[in-house]
Amino acid sequence: MIRGKNLLALKDLSRREIWEIIDQARTFREVLDRPIPIVPALRGKTILLLFFEPSTRTQISFNIAAKRLSADVVTFSASSSSVLKGETLLDTARNIEVMRVDGVVLRHSAPGSAQFLADRLTAFVVNAGDGCHEHPTQGLLDIYTMLEHHESLEDKVVLIVGDIKHSRVARSNIWGLTKLGAEVVVCGPPTLLPAEVEKMGVRVASNIDEALPDADVVYVLRIQKERQTSGLFPSVQEYRELYGLTKARARRLKKKVLLMHPGPINRGVEIDPEVADGPRSVILDQAKNGVAVRMSVLYLLAGG
Ligand code: CP
Repeated sequence: MIRGKNLLALKDLSRREIWEIIDQARTFREVLDRPIPIVPALRGKTILLLFFEPSTRTQISFNIAAKRLSADVVTFSASSSSVLKGETLLDTARNIEVMRVDGVVLRHSAPGSAQFLADRLTAFVVNAGDGCHEHPTQGLLDIYTMLEHHESLEDKVVLIVGDIKHSRVARSNIWGLTKLGAEVVVCGPPTLLPAEVEKMGVRVASNIDEALPDADVVYVLRIQKERQTSGLFPSVQEYRELYGLTKARARRLKKKVLLMHPGPINRGVEIDPEVADGPRSVILDQAKNGVAVRMSVLYLLAGG
């Protein structure tokens, strides 16, 4: 059973807890292939999707996951709420919680916001991305997807390319993958690597072309175009030339490499469209597996 009542960070989970979530997700993955893909596990429970930032995959995936478990789902969008009148995160959550909400799925731009709510609510809290901190269910669905192709991740080389510094996805993957024994290598512009990133148990590759041929998984991160003005890298074109997973680079990869991206993709910037849509890409599998993984998390936290 996942320790505590919340899922806030993969840094907090043990290897055993990660496997428990993956194993439970495998059971739910079978449910999702049935003609009627619904189980009554969370009948009578209410899940609140509290999203203060835009989301396509995570919000819809949690919504479908909760409904497949027969829970009632309430969605909240900050842009059409009393947040615009100045209401705080805590007041918002407390006022909805008293309407008998059992679990809160939070996405927020502030690192630590999920912990902040978890410390103050009776309902369980799932972190659906808190600023640059963590996005644990993304890390879990990525691990699940890798395990569809490898029985174990022990000694598998996972190369994460891009803006590691601002990426909650990278952090959750680094914590989760290293706990499962994978060798994680990061590569990106020096301005987009966290200080002392090696202390997270990863190796830094300064040259993507040297790192690519050894990788069993290449995990490409979204380059955030909005950061272009802040001078962290010279231009989108230069970024593509130095770090983009181009068609030419893809030719030098292992035959059975897995190509992953959390979405949304900037086609032609961090990854070429032909590579993102090619036979070695499992990007749509990641989105698909997110439902089973989030069913698992909601089920275990609700006491399943
Ligand atoms: N991967 C991910 O978190 O996507 P969304 O922002 O669309 O939820």
